[in-house]
Amino acid sequence: MDDRQRYDRATAELDPPFAILDMEALRANAESLVRRAGGKPIRVASKSVRSRPILERILAMDGFRGVMAFTLPEALWLVSHGLSDVLVAYPTADRAALARLAASERAAREITLMVDSAEHLDYIEAAVPANSPPLRLCLDLDAGYLAFGGRFRAGALRSPVREPAHAADLAADIAKRPGFRLVGLMAYEAQIAGVGDDPPGSAAFARVVRLMQARSARELILRRGRVVNAVRQVADLEFVNGGGTGSIERTVREKAVTECAAGSGFFHPRLFDFYRGFSGRPAALFALPVVRRPAPDVVTVLGGGYLASGAPGPSRLPQPYLPPGLRYSADEGAGEVQTPLLGQPAEDLRVGDRVWFRHAKAGELCERFAGLLLVEGDKVVEEVPTYRGEGKTFL
Ligand SMILES: Cc1ncc(COP(=O)(O)O)c(C=O)c1O
Repeated sequence: MDDRQRYDRATAELDPPFAILDMEALRANAESLVRRAGGKPIRVASKSVRSRPILERILAMDGFRGVMAFTLPEALWLVSHGLSDVLVAYPTADRAALARLAASERAAREITLMVDSAEHLDYIEAAVPANSPPLRLCLDLDAGYLAFGGRFRAGALRSPVREPAHAADLAADIAKRPGFRLVGLMAYEAQIAGVGDDPPGSAAFARVVRLMQARSARELILRRGRVVNAVRQVADLEFVNGGGTGSIERTVREKAVTECAAGSGFFHPRLFDFYRGFSGRPAALFALPVVRRPAPDVVTVLGGGYLASGAPGPSRLPQPYLPPGLRYSADEGAGEVQTPLLGQPAEDLRVGDRVWFRHAKAGELCERFAGLLLVEGDKVVEEVPTYRGEGKTFL
């Protein structure tokens, strides 16, 4: 039985739209991430999962330790449900959440905030009472790649902290303030971890990507090591986090890095098909029903316009996955309430049949569905809520 037959059979009694998680594929993907990490623990990036029961199941497997959350309210919520060691990977300006953090000994013990400037330190200090338990902080380091005297930049625009002296100064500032404890350092090389080195289209572009990534990795190995050394003179770091799904084996080779992060690799969305170093199995899919047939080789499905975040373009569209061979209309793309799909496979589809899609990114899918149907073999064995299904929309 092929995957399409399995998924159709498992959900035959259900009416789409709905989302499924192929558990065998999820487990295989998780095992592959652990293999690639070569013994260093993987912190689970919750933004790419966005379902508490699934996060818990992943964390119960060998090789995973701690959560990389995306907002402080999310981290507080996860900790209130018993999760521990939660790193908020992005700075927060949420005063109410900071006050809640400072009011809870357990939360203050389990949650680490991200900072990259004295401005962050001042802001947090102003938001929490003076006698609060010390808050755990992680320093965010810019891991982007600069060339041609800074005129070319690859990587996400995040932290202004780049050089060892700057990082050590900020660490010293933190050490002076009694309300804080610097426990971690994070440097995420988005230009390697999040950019496929086997992109579709131009071979010349692929060569440029690979060259940039090789140079960036070489530069980072030295700089990340120097920054970690400089910060360790001032603070007792518990962890140094780096990387993501696309860079694991490269990141963990650095001695200075104690753990890596990964999230997208669990669901293996469309954008992660374009790497030479690893492959995964599509684990999270959504089904949309065929509701009309405008022409013999066209079907229209309900909904579909679940575009991924990031710089806009065709790569952000969901992929019509099964049956293979369907494509969007250039005029309509993926629509708000209906989506025409063109191609020969449409000839065999009838009203009520389903088309299976993959999201371009991983966790954003869960903002569209209240639950994930867990598929084992050709059966749905359980339904678990997404964040949205638990009434939580953190972003
Ligand atoms: C700080 C940080 N680390 C790691 C990742 C990698 O996550 P994923 O494995 O989902 O690509 C991201 C994604 O944006 C990130 O922001």
